Amino acid sequence: MTRLRLGVLISGRGSNLQALIEATADPTYPAEIVQVISNRPDAAGLTRAEAAGLPSLIVDHTAFPDRPAFDREMTQALEEASVELVCLAGFMRLLSDEFVDHWRDRMINIHPSLLPAFKGLEVQERVLARGARFAGCTVHYVRKEMDTGPIIAQAAVPVRADDTADSLAARILEQEHRIYPLAVRLIAEGRVSIDAGDRARIADWPTVPGVLLNPPEA
Ligand code: GAR
Repeated sequence: MTRLRLGVLISGRGSNLQALIEATADPTYPAEIVQVISNRPDAAGLTRAEAAGLPSLIVDHTAFPDRPAFDREMTQALEEASVELVCLAGFMRLLSDEFVDHWRDRMINIHPSLLPAFKGLEVQERVLARGARFAGCTVHYVRKEMDTGPIIAQAAVPVRADDTADSLAARILEQEHRIYPLAVRLIAEGRVSIDAGDRARIADWPTVPGVLLNPPEA
């Protein structure tokens, strides 16, 4: 089996990187991590990469004159490692149009909301302020506008009456760790295509019955 070659970009904690490390540790999983890049020298995720024996690199954005120069350095490192799919995993820098174009349909992101709702930062504070009854996370292909692009996988969680932004984020994070490896697997298995309307289509999608209701009926 040839495994899809992943480059994972991080800026911080790296728990989604860890989920991918654990998934790829299974030799039957159809992808492998060949390069980890952090734009921050102090990212805790770098320790996870080292512990897993993965090649990691710091590309410190503050050392570059502008965004395109920083992005070109990352592309070079990713290409040197023959990366086939770039996985943004808590990578907190906006990317240049040039970078997004270069990796079009070869770069995915995970975001802690049910896109297209609640793009951007401080998501769970805004979910709570709006009284949404469900929250969740999305894995999507990356397009130029922030937090847009064909949706591959989503998971929804209920918002509880006593939730804080932290408790809600923790509930969502557990699901992020499930759907990121799932989305990568679907891509690696060649089951994801992008149609003329720029929507991701998944081959052999099993039917799931039922609806979700929150608050639940007593
Ligand atoms: C995750 O919740 C991820 O969805 C979010 O940052 C966190 C990174 O955690 N990403 C974004 O908000 C991107 N817009 P991690 O470093 O532990 O994976």
